[in-house]
Amino acid sequence: ASGPLADTLGRPLHDLRISVTDRCNFRCGYCMPKEIFDKHYRFLPHDALLSFEEIARVAGVFTGLGVRKIRLTGGEPLLRKNLERLVEMLAAQRAVDGRPLDLTLTTNASLLQRKARALKDAGLQRITVSLDALDDTVFRRMNDADFPVADVLAGIDEALRVGLGPVKVNMVVKRGTNDHEIVPMARHFRGMPVTLRFIEYMDVGATNGWRMDEVLPSDDVIARLDAEFPLEPLPAHQPGETASRWRYRDGQGEVGVISSVTKAFCHDCNRARLTTEGKLFTCLFGTQGHDLRSLLRGGASDTQLAGAIDHLWRQRTDRYSELRAALPPAPADGARRVEMHYIGG
Ligand code: GTP
Ligand code: 5AD
Ligand code: SF4
Ligand code: SF4
Repeated sequence: ASGPLADTLGRPLHDLRISVTDRCNFRCGYCMPKEIFDKHYRFLPHDALLSFEEIARVAGVFTGLGVRKIRLTGGEPLLRKNLERLVEMLAAQRAVDGRPLDLTLTTNASLLQRKARALKDAGLQRITVSLDALDDTVFRRMNDADFPVADVLAGIDEALRVGLGPVKVNMVVKRGTNDHEIVPMARHFRGMPVTLRFIEYMDVGATNGWRMDEVLPSDDVIARLDAEFPLEPLPAHQPGETASRWRYRDGQGEVGVISSVTKAFCHDCNRARLTTEGKLFTCLFGTQGHDLRSLLRGGASDTQLAGAIDHLWRQRTDRYSELRAALPPAPADGARRVEMHYIGG
């Protein structure tokens, strides 16, 4: 294979999402429902995890193939000990054209107040915080770990203070659970250096009991916001973005909607995902990853690793969200879709 790296649908490889742990201290029902992720659940054993050195090496191979944005995810990435060391190693890498990478992280912010400064000093550029409600009772119910909203807000403030802003805040919207928090969330973050994004509840994995009637379409989200704070659409920053952008007409900033269910964005999806144990997935809804760890630990050279990734990407056909409606509710071959806490969203 030769020529610029693109998959069967012409999509380049632009983002790498790296999950650094499959553990989390929250139990959000749409991701790690308590009934399944209880004290009997077997998380990955320590020796299965890629070391920071292994992650940095794989990341280097990906940047050599054209990746310009790296996002650390989990589970909850800040639970991985000394994560700032990994951030430092990644911040030292450059894109193929010599420019710095866009280096960021998605967190529940439970440890952010403590860690923001060290992350910034290590070279993290920005941060995305997951927050599903402003009302403390609703939020505690959704994280199912009795975690208070005030601590998340304090984490966001600290991130802004140390220069990790503008911050993105992700709110997963479930109809009947937190959709009444849409307007209060917008009111709170308007005028701050924070971009709030509303995510349609997705059917990731096989454990969250997803139902279409709990999805609030993004068009409805925008209509509710627009009635309170008039909005107008903004053009995309770059191709392949997850969120459609809208700005407040009164100049108080912007919001985004991520509409994986009602307006699939597979046509220019340019994201690869590396799990905690070194499996490469080319779709969030994949059932099978490609084992890069055994290549790494089996003594493969960087050129061999690059060849394997290049080969996989060129074969890529994934467009799950575009096909969702036409597919059976579970994979026909009996395979299980990968879980969100494992693949990192
Ligand atoms: P930014 O560059 O900061 O805009 O990040 P992002 O939107 O790529 O990443 P983030 O981790 O904030 O993801 C936001 C939401 O979009 C999460 O719920 C993700 O699971 C979801 N998401 C991200 N990438 C994809 C994707 O390729 N497909 C689908 N279906 N959902 C995605
Ligand atoms: N649907 C939509 N978003 C989800 N996330 C986790 N599970 C789901 C789901 N089932 C979100 C998290 C985080 C991001 C990485 O993915 O809230 O913001
Ligand atoms: Fe943890 Fe994020 Fe999953 Fe919630 S959505 S359980 S915070 S990994
Ligand atoms: Fe990309 Fe798969 Fe999401 Fe489509 S469903 S946007 S192919 S990760």
